[in-house]
Amino acid sequence: MGGVLHCESVPLPEIARRFGTPCYVYSAAALDEAWREFRAALAGRDALVCYAVKANSNLAILARFARLGAGFDIVSGGELARVQASGGDCSRVVFSGVGKSEGELRQALETGILCFNVESAAELSRIERVAEAARRPAPIALRVNPDVDPLTHPYISTGLRTNKFGVPIEEAAELYLHASRSPHLRVIGIACHIGSQLLDPAPMLEASGKVLDFVLRLERDGIRLEHIDLGGGLGIRYREETPPPIAEFLAPVAALFAQRPERLLFEPGRRLVGNAGVLLTRVEYLKPGAKRSFAVVDAAMNDLVRPALYDAWHDIAAVAPRPGPAAVYDIVGPVCESGDFLGTARTLALAEGDLLAVMSAGAYGMSMSSNYNTRPRPAEVLVEGGAVRLVRRRETLADLLGPEQAPDETGISEP
Ligand code: LLP
Repeated sequence: MGGVLHCESVPLPEIARRFGTPCYVYSAAALDEAWREFRAALAGRDALVCYAVKANSNLAILARFARLGAGFDIVSGGELARVQASGGDCSRVVFSGVGKSEGELRQALETGILCFNVESAAELSRIERVAEAARRPAPIALRVNPDVDPLTHPYISTGLRTNKFGVPIEEAAELYLHASRSPHLRVIGIACHIGSQLLDPAPMLEASGKVLDFVLRLERDGIRLEHIDLGGGLGIRYREETPPPIAEFLAPVAALFAQRPERLLFEPGRRLVGNAGVLLTRVEYLKPGAKRSFAVVDAAMNDLVRPALYDAWHDIAAVAPRPGPAAVYDIVGPVCESGDFLGTARTLALAEGDLLAVMSAGAYGMSMSSNYNTRPRPAEVLVEGGAVRLVRRRETLADLLGPEQAPDETGISEP
């Protein structure tokens, strides 16, 4: 197709022309395909896939998964509001996170979510109080921490005893007993999530084994559950990784629970959206140097923080590769930080004004963006076949300045 990168059948330069850069571009077909792969891996099994909203919380993406029958894994009242605004089914929402506020608990209880994934004894007491006051029993699961090493980046592993997440599995039994006796709590499940960007199915299976043992123990204590939530974390290809197919993660887990009547839940984020998106950016300046050469682009760490935060690799491709000598560039943004890079030591033939696509940026890209350096966030578009829809307009400076006010001369402002 003329040597120019496309998203589905739309050339990326056309998107840059219409919507400007930087711009996140998502492929509807890639989202649908990833979703189908999950469903196929769970065919014949009572299972609910709860998309982890934090990975990419654009309303159009949530609406697409909602139409496909998804549930949602949320971690804030804000994410719950997004699920509602996108037409998602709140009775398929699980609420994870270690710091749920009283207001968020009340909001979620009133909305009628499927389950609170409780992360501590203190949170359990708070939920009990909120449910009592609301005269509405709260459906709960305990998120247990199985102490399994997910073999991933330390910042995104969550199932080790040294992480802040979940309740140690040995302490969970007592909390379950307490919860099962409370008139304000409805014990309906158990949850576990060991980490993100998993490339080996073994740790998920190991954690599932520990959860199964625990479920059997609860059963002996007279506690029966409706569902078992095994979290998300399935990895994607950023560079040279070869992540196993989704079925290689889920089929052994489903087999392990084959004799169990409980419904299985999963909470994937990255695997559903990560490879479905790119960040489209334009070269502003080339800055050749004796030791290092820089390509300064119009996207920055505020738009995509993963490289700066985790030293994460994203492939960076020229949208319209040009002939001519290539050079080695650090691809950097306009933000005033030395850590503001999208990629280092990339061999590309570049000229000012060229478009670049930062690949695999559909997950934890826009959702982790900020306005650092008072930079308006990029536009987001969703491509379906030959059609392009703007699903978030580029922010304006008015959007950024709107909530603020300078104090008057007395220095005292109205509350
Ligand atoms: N469930 C829970 C309880 C989680 O904490 C997470 C992710 C997920 C599900 C979804 O995990 P996934 O399937 O997307 O791996 N910002 C980091 C990733 C942080 C993940 C946090 N928790 C990154 O950019 O790599």
